[in-house]
Amino acid sequence: MFNQKGGCGKTMLSMQLAASFGLRGHRTLLVDMDKQGTSTIWAGQSEDEHPYPATVISLAPLREKLIGEISRHAAENDLILIDCPPAIESSIPWAALNVSDLALIPVIPVMDNVWASREAKELARRAMSENPDLQTYCVPMNYRRGNVFKVGTELLEADTEIPLIDQGLQQRNAYGESQMYGTSVHGLSKSSAATKEVEELSRVVLAKLGIEDVKKGAKPRATKRKEVA
Ligand SMILES: Nc1ncnc2c1ncn2[C@@H]1O[C@H](COP(=O)(O)OP(=O)(O)OP(=O)(O)O)[C@@H](O)[C@H]1O
Ligand SMILES: [Mg+2]
Repeated sequence: MFNQKGGCGKTMLSMQLAASFGLRGHRTLLVDMDKQGTSTIWAGQSEDEHPYPATVISLAPLREKLIGEISRHAAENDLILIDCPPAIESSIPWAALNVSDLALIPVIPVMDNVWASREAKELARRAMSENPDLQTYCVPMNYRRGNVFKVGTELLEADTEIPLIDQGLQQRNAYGESQMYGTSVHGLSKSSAATKEVEELSRVVLAKLGIEDVKKGAKPRATKRKEVA
């Protein structure tokens, strides 16, 4: 998950997807490469009896040495997600792109975010020319109905080289609420609109990686904590 734009949803996307993969039974590691440490702090909010359903570690101080360190974690994990800091000049996104099979650029489909995504896409294009395994997609984040978001989405859809995944995460209270409890939206309700859209995106991402569910037709187990009205 990378984009130089701050606040576009890198951490939200990382945390919701890692939880979904973990609940599906995949051994999942989320590597927090942002020195703000938001993912690490978020997972640390969970109660002992309802742990966040994936392992979250901070390797931010390693910067580009991430490349060597990731391989040490590969054997004991099925999926490793990397939450990058909001900087493109930093060596971290480049290092992450070099060791990844899939890069996701979360973009809020409003004009300034769409314009800013060009820089992230340029970095991805360079990385894809050096790392032939790498696929890159944009993911629409934090959007609502309305003309501004519609136009922003259409602009992102027009790029055929780095396509927009048509399943995104809409602006919903459940996302912020899941942070408060150190969980993902699954931990609040297994049937909310937020959980359904995370699950749909999770299926799309796993399909792009060619990863099957651990058990065929497996549904994620809810770490039931609290129902949202
Ligand atoms: N789909 C959503 N619905 C509601 N709020 C959201 C959604 N996605 C993200 N947010 C909120 O938007 C803010 C920014 O999200 P997030 O921290 O994931 O962005 P980021 O790209 O990781 O930011 P940074 O660049 O600082 O690392 C947070 O307060 C988060 O809770
Ligand atoms: Mg972040």
